[in-house]
Amino acid sequence: MDTQDPLAPFRSRFFVQPGEIYLDGNSLGLQSIDAQRSVSRIMAEWRTLGIGGWLDGERPWFSFAEELGALAAPLIGASGDEVIATGTTTLNVHACVGSLYRPTSQRDKIVAAADDFPTDIYALKSQLKLKGRDPRQALVLIESDDRGRVEEASIISKLTDDVALVLLPAVFYRSGQLLDLQRLTEAAHERGICIGFDCSHSVGAVPHRFDVWGVDFAVWCSYKYLNAGPGSPAFIYLNKRHFGLEPSLAGWFGYNKKKQFDLLIDFEPASTAGCMQISSPGILGAAAIEGALAITLEAGIERIRRKSLQLTDYLMFLIDKLLPTGTDGFSIVNPREAGHRGGHVALSHSREGKRICDALRGRKIITDFRPPDVIRIAPVALYNTFEDVWQTVNALQEIVATAEYESFEKTRGLIT
Ligand SMILES: Cc1ncc(COP(=O)(O)O)c(C=O)c1O
Repeated sequence: MDTQDPLAPFRSRFFVQPGEIYLDGNSLGLQSIDAQRSVSRIMAEWRTLGIGGWLDGERPWFSFAEELGALAAPLIGASGDEVIATGTTTLNVHACVGSLYRPTSQRDKIVAAADDFPTDIYALKSQLKLKGRDPRQALVLIESDDRGRVEEASIISKLTDDVALVLLPAVFYRSGQLLDLQRLTEAAHERGICIGFDCSHSVGAVPHRFDVWGVDFAVWCSYKYLNAGPGSPAFIYLNKRHFGLEPSLAGWFGYNKKKQFDLLIDFEPASTAGCMQISSPGILGAAAIEGALAITLEAGIERIRRKSLQLTDYLMFLIDKLLPTGTDGFSIVNPREAGHRGGHVALSHSREGKRICDALRGRKIITDFRPPDVIRIAPVALYNTFEDVWQTVNALQEIVATAEYESFEKTRGLIT
């Protein structure tokens, strides 16, 4: 499979550490030569141009966020002016929900998933409070079923007449389940409900068609499958039907660009997704997006998805063949069907998930652990090999057969 892999050449553009198998790109993607180069270029522009970089940089900094948005747009099936690189994922949830959640006396509920990444739930609760609602009444949290899955039908059954907005993850951070965004969007719209998605675990791994599906808004980070580095700017997709809205968190970078430097005190929002910006963009972090995005676009999101599914298929095949399962063993938590899973395999272990994850790390195989019992393994199409997958499952087999994990602490560190 490695010798026949059309994406194999991309691996040499990443800083894969010698002797290490990095399977944590769903948390923080690896640095690439391309990202390093674009950051170096902006550092040089800052050094030589100073303030002049805002207009005279190779990609002028003043419109950099819009340019990066337009570059990322094909990954999610949007037009260029519907996407902006800005803020952080959580801040962008605040910006989008603050602007699009317009409660009335008949409709004031927000529907979300209890197993979404907690920051989204924190943001929703605080947005409800800001709009004078009690989250205990107005936030409807859908629980996962006994297989750890959230069925689209059970979400749709909660879309009642009193719901104003839905926010869901495209892919669940722990279970790896991919939701049917098209079906959910159609169901929400039939009921007059605004719907958005946190796509942090899908963009860069799974293609989307937001314009075709009519999604209202989406947010995602750039540091996972997009490989743009820790804390680099995130993204917002705002469907053009919402252009012209007044952003709830107004700031001067969301102003109509042609007149931003008129510095008038009456706010005139940009007539694009750019209106969701607040402050001067973090150009250094954005620089890393430029290089990282170029690789993803060159490889092509459809080819990335195809290889990602092959890698995770192979991983699940080896787990099934080689690892002990059952009450004292491993089980695969993510859905098996290609249409229902994202870029990582969620492998649970009944007792020792945390220490097994540590033991892998002890062998320089980097995965992560999410309580209570899930080891997340993300073979990334751009820089992992099928051999990486094979080595990892062999290591897991040895780690449990020899109880190697017992030499690791039971307590969790600050970051897992
Ligand atoms: C689904 C999801 N949303 C948001 C975040 C983090 O948000 P932020 O980028 O604001 O730190 C994560 C972090 O892993 C995540 O998995």
